[in-house]
Amino acid sequence: MAGVFLPFHMFLRTVLPIICCTLMIAFPARAEDRLVRLAAPPELVESGFLKYALPRFSLKTQVKVSLVEAGQENDLTFQAGPPGVPVFFGLNQVWYAESANTDHPGTQKLMTWLRSEVGERTIASFQIDGTHPFSPPQIAEAAVADTITSGDAIKGKALSLTHCGRCHVVAPENRMNAIGSTPSFNALRTLADWEGRFQSFFALNPHPSFTQIADVTEPFPEDRPSPIVPLELTLDDLDAILAYVAAIEPADLGSVLEHQ
Ligand code: HEC
Repeated sequence: MAGVFLPFHMFLRTVLPIICCTLMIAFPARAEDRLVRLAAPPELVESGFLKYALPRFSLKTQVKVSLVEAGQENDLTFQAGPPGVPVFFGLNQVWYAESANTDHPGTQKLMTWLRSEVGERTIASFQIDGTHPFSPPQIAEAAVADTITSGDAIKGKALSLTHCGRCHVVAPENRMNAIGSTPSFNALRTLADWEGRFQSFFALNPHPSFTQIADVTEPFPEDRPSPIVPLELTLDDLDAILAYVAAIEPADLGSVLEHQ
């Protein structure tokens, strides 16, 4: 037998362990660097989204993610609003990731992955009943970042997504979840009298049958309760929504003509 020839199983048993040991001594990887303890609220956990996306991240990076309850010691928290960095949109809100320890290698890998092309595709590919309820947040951030600056408008955007986004496309984030035949907010924004229409939307059809504005509207007639989950707002909420609509880009003429 030629001296230089080494059968494969011998290679596995002798040379490979030596290479591995050498690498491990040269680049020690601590177990805790390869584990991210992630705190997330129950509604996000129950949506199934994390169970879908996180194993795909682990497969790519060999970093494990274990879910811990909100409030427990963790490396990263997903929450429905600031502080933190916007990481994805879903369940009608923008989700933010706040890191307890920004130097943690596993956490850094997860943040990088979420914003990578593969990560974004994974986020968008999650399905519930044939719909794609999650999407990357960037489009929305880019579209509104330079126009929306006041606190009211930011609050108004969140209120619009929650209450009006059931039917209207109010921002790029919910364009997949809204009802296509309902005019989008940027189409409505293009109308010369948009402000008057938004100020009185609760009196304009189809809203009166399901909308209650505190101290403004009459309660629903007893024999005609709201046919859907009622839309309940205060005048302050409506003010914030107006601040948001004032800041959004009007749509181009094509979509306006479509609406008329
Ligand atoms: C259940 C579905 C639904 C919800 C929720 C909803 N809308 Fe509408 N809205 C519609 C439909 C449908 C129209 C189109 C009516 C038409 O074209 O006659 C509309 C039209 C409008 C118009 C234009 C009205 C007009 O006559 O010009 C405004 C303004 C408006 N909505 C604002 C809002 C705001 C603000 C919210 C949230 C606070 C909201 N809508 C929530 C279904 C909804």
